[in-house]
Amino acid sequence: MSGSTGQVAVVTGASSGIGAASARLLGASGWTVVLIARRADRLAHVARDVEGAGGRALVEPLDAAEADAVDAMAARVLDAVGVPDVIVNSAGAGVWRWMEDTSHGELASMLGAPFLAAWNVTHAFMPALLARGRGVIVHVGSPASLAPWPGATGYTTSRWALRGLHEALRQDLAGTGVRTCHVLFGEVSSEYFDANPDTHEHIPRVGRIIPTITPERAARVVVRTIGRPRTQVFDPPMLAVVQLANRLSPGLVALLARRTGRQRGR
Ligand SMILES: NC(=O)c1ccc[n+]([C@@H]2O[C@H](COP(=O)([O-])OP(=O)(O)OC[C@H]3O[C@@H](n4cnc5c(N)ncnc54)[C@H](OP(=O)(O)O)[C@@H]3O)[C@@H](O)[C@H]2O)c1
Repeated sequence: MSGSTGQVAVVTGASSGIGAASARLLGASGWTVVLIARRADRLAHVARDVEGAGGRALVEPLDAAEADAVDAMAARVLDAVGVPDVIVNSAGAGVWRWMEDTSHGELASMLGAPFLAAWNVTHAFMPALLARGRGVIVHVGSPASLAPWPGATGYTTSRWALRGLHEALRQDLAGTGVRTCHVLFGEVSSEYFDANPDTHEHIPRVGRIIPTITPERAARVVVRTIGRPRTQVFDPPMLAVVQLANRLSPGLVALLARRTGRQRGR
């Protein structure tokens, strides 16, 4: 608990990748971090790192797609440490498949995280955030929510839903003191592609111009965004260039993604 700033962050996807790195970084600045993911053993490991770095950790092993479990977690958190200052919605999974190769169960789990997980956790704390009139919500998103590529139908749909949640909240939260931020990364060298096999090889060739970043760098971007909330954040900067091209000429970017992406039959 040493070095506690009194600030509280709820981080989903905290057992791995961007969420775990963000939790560690916040811990190193003395934050109290509520760690959410399904794998309790992995959360315990991250909790040791957070506490070793001078922060405080609360471990909440649960499936964030399950609203009742999330509501129960929120009640415990509000009781134990009060209203969070920050929510980082980083829980997410999803294989890149054509629609006809995607089972109903796979779609349910892709929509479960990131979309439903972000909805549930944000929903559970929203009354408290609004009552206090302050807070930052960071959604970790994907460029697929701006410029889709072929053969990732369910994945893309869920990331558009996450972006839709962020955009809807932008309108709802205007003037409330609560901020919503959509942080988009290119490829991050997390365990994502091991956890979601037959996915990495389907990154469109045009996407290779965007350098891969580490989860630690992604976490620095998340923490920077918490300190200076912005509506949309891109990292690495090359991703912002691609997004600019997408704004100026969406048809061209879609064509490039299609031509250099996965073709049917492979
Ligand atoms: N890696 C990339 O290249 C990249 C690029 C752009 C955007 N993103 C997005 O960033 C998000 C995080 O990715 P990452 O790279 O950090 O992947 P990761 O290393 O695989 O971590 C994903 C995290 O989400 C958790 N999770 C998944 N489903 C969950 C659920 N239903 N309830 C609670 N926790 C759940 C996992 O923990 P448990 O399995 O223990 O539950 C894990 O902690 C994803 O939405 C991904 O699409 C990733």
